Amino acid sequence: MQSSESREQRAESRDKSEKKTLHSALCTLHFDVFTLFPGIFDGYLSESLVKSAMDRGLIRVRRHNFRDWSTGRHHKADDTPYGGGPGMVIKVDCVVPCVEEIRASEPEPGVGAGRLLLLTPQGRRLDQRWVEELAREKRILLLCGRYEGFDERVSRILQPEEMSIGDYVLNGGEVAAMAVIDAVMRLVPGVLGDEYSSLCDSFSTGNRFLEGPQYTRPRVYRGLEVPEVLVNGNHELIDQWRAEEAVKRTEQRRPDLLSEPGFY
Ligand code: ADE
Repeated sequence: MQSSESREQRAESRDKSEKKTLHSALCTLHFDVFTLFPGIFDGYLSESLVKSAMDRGLIRVRRHNFRDWSTGRHHKADDTPYGGGPGMVIKVDCVVPCVEEIRASEPEPGVGAGRLLLLTPQGRRLDQRWVEELAREKRILLLCGRYEGFDERVSRILQPEEMSIGDYVLNGGEVAAMAVIDAVMRLVPGVLGDEYSSLCDSFSTGNRFLEGPQYTRPRVYRGLEVPEVLVNGNHELIDQWRAEEAVKRTEQRRPDLLSEPGFY
C-alpha cells in the first residue's frame, strides 16, 4: 500500500513537472487583424476556447483599424470607384501605411513579420492543410475587406496571400478572419486540453475522413437506440466501428475527398 501510494505520488509529480516544461516550451501565436469594424470581434474574443487560449497566453489577437491611418479631415477610409459603378473601395493610402507600420513592429522579439493574408472571395480556398501550415507560424496578419474590396494597389504593394473561406460572398472579411483564427488556434499546442482531439477532427492530418456519429445519454430516445458496440466496453471493437463509420460517411457525403491527391 505504502509503496503503491508513493509510486502514484511520484507519477503525479513527474506529470506536473512535464506539464510545467511543456507550458514553458509553448509559444504564443500572434494574430494582427486589420479591419474597419474591430467591434465585430468583441463577442468572439470574449468567450469559450478563444478567451481561455488568450488568457493562457497561447494566442494573442490585436485589432487595428485602418481608418486611424487615413489622412484628411474626415478620416475617410473608402471612396467611390474610378470608372464609376456601385459601392465603395477601401483606400490604398490608409491601408498600406497601417499594415507596414504594424508589420514592422514585432509584438514580441523574434516573432518577425509573419504571414500576411488578405481575405477575399477571389482568393485561394482555405482547407485543413493550409490551416495546419498556418498553425506552425508565430504571427499571422489578417486583412479584412468590406464593400467592393481594396484598391488593387494594396495587393500590388503588400503582396499578401489572398484567401477565401468558400465560394460565397460575405459582407466583409471579418467573419472569414474569425473562421481562420478559430481553425488555426485549435491546432496550437496547449489550446485543446487533449492534444489528441484535434488530430481526430475531420480533415486533419491524423484523419482525413469525416468523423462518424457520436452519441450520449439517454441510451434510447424516441425509439432510437445507441449502437450496441458503443456500450459494450470493448475498445478495440469501438475503434474499428468508428473507423468503418468514418469511411462510410465520407463515401456517402464527400466522395470527392477520397479521390483527392494525398488523401491516404
Ligand atoms: N470576404 C467576403 N467574402 C469572403 C469569403 N468568402 N472568403 C474570404 N473573405 C471574404
